[in-house]
Amino acid sequence: MKKQKYVIGNWKMYKTLSEGLSFVDEMTKLLLDVDRTKVIFCPPYTALFEMKKQLNGTTCELGAQNCHWENSGAFTGEVSCSMLSELGVQYVILGHSERRHCFGEKDEWINKKIQALLAYKLVPIFCIGETLEEMESGSTKDVLEHQIESGLRDISNVGNVIVAYEPVWAIGTGLNADSIQIERVHKFIRKKIEKLYSIRESENVSILYGGSVNPQNVESLILTQGVDGFLIGGASLKTESFYHIIKTVEQYS
Ligand code: 13P
Repeated sequence: MKKQKYVIGNWKMYKTLSEGLSFVDEMTKLLLDVDRTKVIFCPPYTALFEMKKQLNGTTCELGAQNCHWENSGAFTGEVSCSMLSELGVQYVILGHSERRHCFGEKDEWINKKIQALLAYKLVPIFCIGETLEEMESGSTKDVLEHQIESGLRDISNVGNVIVAYEPVWAIGTGLNADSIQIERVHKFIRKKIEKLYSIRESENVSILYGGSVNPQNVESLILTQGVDGFLIGGASLKTESFYHIIKTVEQYS
């Protein structure tokens, strides 16, 4: 059976509640005939509650952009998995490079967050990726290996985790990794998961690519071996580009 493809929009710190609601209203009308691709919107926290109501009855789903691993406590500014779960959030992006690099997110925290999310039956979208310096010095595989090993430490049900390979140098730069690079890296990630778990489990894990995906490059990227979909930043903020990307993925699903 063909694996389901994903198109996930990471809105980062863009769109107020009203902007988000009108965007989703327009998108869900356009997406009525999309049924083979899982479309997930990840808005800022402030839009989650109302957007969940708006997405009810559609095939699109809702994700958050971060969470804390504790259920509750004196953690000013944080939001827990139970809070997200009660809102009807199904997915949470974790370990995004902006959180790792701007907010000092550590591998151990990401691991704790993955454990907490799985306990709440939420799906972690576990982001990994190397910086430009790391790529240029030939250490991409070492970096990814370390991120995978520490992020997945003591996780038994890896089949419930989505991995997103997002090379830091490709995020928001207009410079996407090419098909050859992506195929090689996705193969490496799957092999690493196979070593930690089993062939069957590694085959079940969805591995997405993220980093400057746009309407021009989406066709060649979705045809790349081992790509199960995309995590999109900039191009998920405009209806025309996000719709074009989703329709292209749907065409090859
Ligand atoms: P861009 O698509 O804007 O490069 O961002 C990718 C990203 O960070 C998605 O999480």
